[in-house]
Amino acid sequence: MAQPPPRKFNRNKNGVITDNLIIKGNNLLVLHSLKKEFANRVKLIYIDPPYNTGNDSFKYNDNFNHATWLTFMKNRLEVAKQLLRNDGVIFVQISNTSSSIKESPEIGYLQVLLDEIFGRKNYISIITWKKKGNPSNTDGALGTITESILFYAKNSDTIKAIIEYYKREYKYTDEHGDYNLELPLKTDEGDYKRESMKFEINTSKGKFTPPIGKRWTYGEVVIKDIINQSKFTIVNDKFYIKKYREDYSLGDNKRKNNLLLDCGSLKSAKNHLSALGFNREEFDTPKPEELIKEIIEIATQPSDIVLDFHLGSGTTATVAHKMNRQYIGIEQMDYIETIAVERLKKVIEGEQGGISKAVKWKGGGNFIYLELKKYNENFIECIQKAKTKDDILEIWQNIKEKSFINYNLDIKAQDENSVEFKKLSLDEQKRHLCEILDKNQLYVNLSSLNDKEFECSDEEKEITKAFYKTYEG
Ligand SMILES: C[S@@+](CC[C@H](N)C(=O)[O-])C[C@H]1O[C@@H](n2cnc3c(N)ncnc32)[C@H](O)[C@@H]1O
Repeated sequence: MAQPPPRKFNRNKNGVITDNLIIKGNNLLVLHSLKKEFANRVKLIYIDPPYNTGNDSFKYNDNFNHATWLTFMKNRLEVAKQLLRNDGVIFVQISNTSSSIKESPEIGYLQVLLDEIFGRKNYISIITWKKKGNPSNTDGALGTITESILFYAKNSDTIKAIIEYYKREYKYTDEHGDYNLELPLKTDEGDYKRESMKFEINTSKGKFTPPIGKRWTYGEVVIKDIINQSKFTIVNDKFYIKKYREDYSLGDNKRKNNLLLDCGSLKSAKNHLSALGFNREEFDTPKPEELIKEIIEIATQPSDIVLDFHLGSGTTATVAHKMNRQYIGIEQMDYIETIAVERLKKVIEGEQGGISKAVKWKGGGNFIYLELKKYNENFIECIQKAKTKDDILEIWQNIKEKSFINYNLDIKAQDENSVEFKKLSLDEQKRHLCEILDKNQLYVNLSSLNDKEFECSDEEKEITKAFYKTYEG
């Protein structure tokens, strides 16, 4: 008889999971695992990966060499692209500096990589985020008060509604909505002359001529469109454009302006985490909720799926949660449980820091926490934690009995060479043991779910079948 499907996940009418997911594990494997369920479903990817700045005070590895870092990014960005919807977009945050004055930073290489994977035509913009007010003593002569966010679309022809955000500091709000200020209608003659900009505006309030010699920020075609559709208002002789999210297609009218975001700071983000009771020692590189809110506003509508596969302290997930977007967050370090998950629980209880007041957050909602089931990864973690050569010998005994070892390794020969092995330094021994483990077996494969050797519990089997919809019957 057919088994009733396990009811672990909520799904929409197309059968796609609608629960928020927080997933622990290596992001490359998690991204591949998500393909079956979420390919072409994600509207926004935001990532803040290790910058390869050589700053090894990070708990995770931010000290790759250049080629390894690029390969790391390439492998992940390629599969990430498959998860994006046709009108999906990706934002990748990156430092403008490198650790060494002898080397240029990764930002240029990252842009070329994104060009290669997404196509040059799908470049939208580079956003600059002001992360602090003044350079600190350690920042060097030129200082580093900004970081960049590279912004690409899967298909730029489908992207709408970006340009409204480029002038949002000049805002006017009335009962009809939010407006952004265009150039004042009455102004002194400027020194910027463009004949094509001189056209008249006919409104119910009369005839207006734009400032002589001044340039419209949006250009004649767009302004005429705004006027024809009455998407403007005039207040104190100033011309305001209504903030419509679906007005313009970048495909026809590409505006690849660069945007400066001055919202939140590194310091405010760290203070927020401390105020929530989290230990700064455990995680020290969060981004502020205000920054992620801007990005989520630029790129998504409520219920759209937002993905961050370098989740860190969980900022993207908390902002998406407070803004009623569906989200998937991935992180490999243990602080996903002690910080990101705990932070989200506070959000559900109605936490009032970060963007809560701005979005009138009252609490509620939920998420599902999942882990990739480790196999060889367990051995790698033990190796990394080992403090003495005796620990390493003990781990080797375990590895021999229980792990998957590279098929070309002769275990007997390894034991026979144990005298040589003992002469290696602790670090060399660690490296050697990591090398001999089969990296295809870091986590338990779906096909091995029922294999006794992997000791999967009934609950693990059930949730896996529910995720992949592989229940019997
Ligand atoms: C700069 S932090 C992200 C901070 C985050 N934006 C926040 O606001 O808290 C980068 C994160 O990527 C994670 N990471 C690096 N490599 C990873 C991998 N292969 N799989 C999963 N997570 C990874 C690191 O552990 C780290 O937490």
